[in-house]
Amino acid sequence: MALKPSRGTLLWGRRVHVWAGGVQWPQMPAHQPGNGGLTVEPINIAEYEAMAYEKLPHDAWEYYIGGSDDELTLRANRDAFARIRLRPRVLVDVSHISLETTVLGAHVRTPLLVAPMAYHGFAHVECECETVRGVGAAGTLMTVSTMANRPLEEVAADASGPLWFQLYVYRDRNVSEQLVRRAEAAGYRALVLTVDTPRLSRREREIRMGFGLPPHLHTANFEGAAREQPGQTPGASGLAVYATALLDSSLTWEALDWLRSVTSLPIVVKGVVTAEDAALAVEHGAQGIIVSNHGGRQLDGTVATIEALPEVVAAANGRVEVYLDGGIRRGTDALKALALGARAVLVGRPVLWGLAANGQQGVTRVLELLGAELELAMALAGAPSLAALTPALVRLPG
Ligand code: FNR
Ligand code: LAC
Repeated sequence: MALKPSRGTLLWGRRVHVWAGGVQWPQMPAHQPGNGGLTVEPINIAEYEAMAYEKLPHDAWEYYIGGSDDELTLRANRDAFARIRLRPRVLVDVSHISLETTVLGAHVRTPLLVAPMAYHGFAHVECECETVRGVGAAGTLMTVSTMANRPLEEVAADASGPLWFQLYVYRDRNVSEQLVRRAEAAGYRALVLTVDTPRLSRREREIRMGFGLPPHLHTANFEGAAREQPGQTPGASGLAVYATALLDSSLTWEALDWLRSVTSLPIVVKGVVTAEDAALAVEHGAQGIIVSNHGGRQLDGTVATIEALPEVVAAANGRVEVYLDGGIRRGTDALKALALGARAVLVGRPVLWGLAANGQQGVTRVLELLGAELELAMALAGAPSLAALTPALVRLPG
């Protein structure tokens, strides 16, 4: 394979040189004959990210990687994990470790689930269908976005594991109700109502890019319904224009009551970071809460999700399952969230990196890498089961 020289990219403070066939770390000594550098299969999420950077078109990279305004919250999600220290226990039998669990009754091989993300079509021609095959092979659950590039039925047809459907509520409630009906019919196990996006934030990378869907990609769940598409828009984010025009910014907790009246599927509220809203979600009949700040893509300056988790877990008080997403890049990140009371965590961007780097195998590998890191971390922490992960394992900063 012809290798193209790397643009070089700074990842977590380290300059990494990426080649079309893999990632080259500058400190690696060997020189493989014929390829001008050592090419290795990615062994962590940062290396998958570096590969994805090489493979993705620039506008897709900017859309995927980006956050809002100054990207404070995007960085805070990572930084907050780094500030938490572990208190491992020793001389515990860790010869057998299981990651298996259930989420809302659905069995999964690992507590690493996949977060809903729009537009997988930039990363792979098979879009979400390719992703879901990789997720199934990893034995876990995928949340499919309202804004997928493949219809939810096609994604379900390629799934071998449980699915949740992420719902945006459109001004025209019939549009969302139709999505709910279709998700039920296609066998989705829960609805994930995203509540942190009454409007889209200001994402300067998108604005600079005039970001929108190119002609070959569609928000496929609306095809045939003659719906507007978030098209490329010079000097603006086409996605923001689309969201402003179509999403219901008047949504209140009443929406949860409405949703419960039109479906018997369990409802998971995504985008809660306070005890107050966690209590309201439970009152309004949610069965799950995802502590999320949309991966730093909505209100900039929002508390990091791992910082918000303890108060949400306390407010939920065991009445609903609590999950977390945002910044999970290492098994130890997941370990910290599980120890602080998350039933499972959702992985966002790393799944897109795997998809862009190597299709379904890349998706599976990314999830397996994180799972293997989590399993090892549990062994080293003296916690052989998910039940053994308790707050005693962590020391919070300050
Ligand atoms: C998202 N996210 C998101 N959330 C949602 O509810 N509906 C959606 O359609 C999308 N779309 C979307 C696209 C892209 C490209 C990204 C990166 C994220 C947010 C997502 O579900 C999740 O909250 C974060 O991505 C988790 O953070 P990490 O793991 O990406 O740091
Ligand atoms: C995003 C929307 C689509 O974060 O949720 O890009």
